[in-house]
Amino acid sequence: MDEKTIQVIVCEDKKDVGFKAFRIFSDAIYSNPETVLGLATGSTPVEMYKQLIALHKEKGFNFSKTASFNLDEYFMLASDHPQSYRYFMNDVLFNHINIDKTRTHVLNGVCKTPQSECQQFEEILFEQYGGVDLQLLGIGSNGHIAFNEPGSTLDSRTRIVDLNQQTKKDNARFFQKQEDVPTQALTMGIGTILEARKIVLLATGENKAEAINDAINGPITPDVPASFLRYHPDCVFIVDKDAAAIL
Ligand code: F6R
Repeated sequence: MDEKTIQVIVCEDKKDVGFKAFRIFSDAIYSNPETVLGLATGSTPVEMYKQLIALHKEKGFNFSKTASFNLDEYFMLASDHPQSYRYFMNDVLFNHINIDKTRTHVLNGVCKTPQSECQQFEEILFEQYGGVDLQLLGIGSNGHIAFNEPGSTLDSRTRIVDLNQQTKKDNARFFQKQEDVPTQALTMGIGTILEARKIVLLATGENKAEAINDAINGPITPDVPASFLRYHPDCVFIVDKDAAAIL
């Protein structure tokens, strides 16, 4: 696989990161209302989601034909658990726009057989929807994308994974007790993500600076899963000054 150049846009602050991402996503849906989105949870995309909601509420922007596939879900958390990613997506985006919920796809964290849940998710994504047109990503402070932790391979597909110490530490703020922090998740693989037609990764804050620099300037390695994005022909990183600090 040939290495490509990642386009990097450095913004003043996280509001501007959200706005630039919002422009890319709203333009894509405007030109093709049936756009298949790949969506992320976490704190970074929330600003962009707010702006998409405002566009719907203030201008009647139409999401009714748009479809979405989320990157990941905690294993063993049901969709009505406030920390589940299905709950999060409904709360921060889907409940406030006119997207058809039957076209929004989040892996089922309480499935009986994770392997068949993951396989079925990919079948629906690729066979019924033709794959992701526009993929949104965040990045972990350890360089993870979705829940592809360091050590994940380029050809990995949607599967169940163990979360590593750093991720559990980063996520602990959302749970009351350390024991409540999930230890496993279902996640799209790196190979799955790289099949998206366009990828937009957002990062804000100084705790992402090292991961951003490693992804762009370090070796392409499973130690930094985001470095594999350098094999994608159309990938843009939108980062604030703090996340770009050591580039
Ligand atoms: C979320 C996801 C994760 C986050 C990453 C950054 O669906 O896949 O990889 O994007 O952990 O999280 P935040 O934005 O909270 O810093």
